[in-house]
Amino acid sequence: MNTTENQGMLINSFEPKIVGFLCNWCSYAGADKAGATQAQYPPNVNIVKVMCSGRVDPQFVLKSFQEGADGVMILACHPGDCHYKEGNYRAAQRYQMLKVLLTQFGIEQERCFFDYVSAGESDKFVQLITQTVAKIKELGPLNLKVTV
Ligand code: FES
Repeated sequence: MNTTENQGMLINSFEPKIVGFLCNWCSYAGADKAGATQAQYPPNVNIVKVMCSGRVDPQFVLKSFQEGADGVMILACHPGDCHYKEGNYRAAQRYQMLKVLLTQFGIEQERCFFDYVSAGESDKFVQLITQTVAKIKELGPLNLKVTV
């Protein structure tokens, strides 16, 4: 077996660790519905339930990467549906800044993902989890060289 084959096997066997911050009222309910309907999706995402996506401090994301996550997902209520009125707008704005911050730490922006999932969108939840796991597998393990 040559080196290229070895590298291919390593990439194929890589199971990324992903932290998913899910808003209690919409996204977590969507995940719950996916579970209730026994939808199949990769088990790589450790879910952290937050009351609102606006509660996700950028430090939570940086800490996740520092503690070994290869990717982070932030899922929020759709625009206009936030139970705290503007939390998801703030989260969306913060996400743009967060991407710049991640680049400064040498972390690819694609490792952090933000989207909207409602309580009824279990199919979208499954699709996003599946796509994100595939994307992070493509990127490979995060080799964080600096302390964040
Ligand atoms: Fe869901 Fe604010 S309550 S994003």
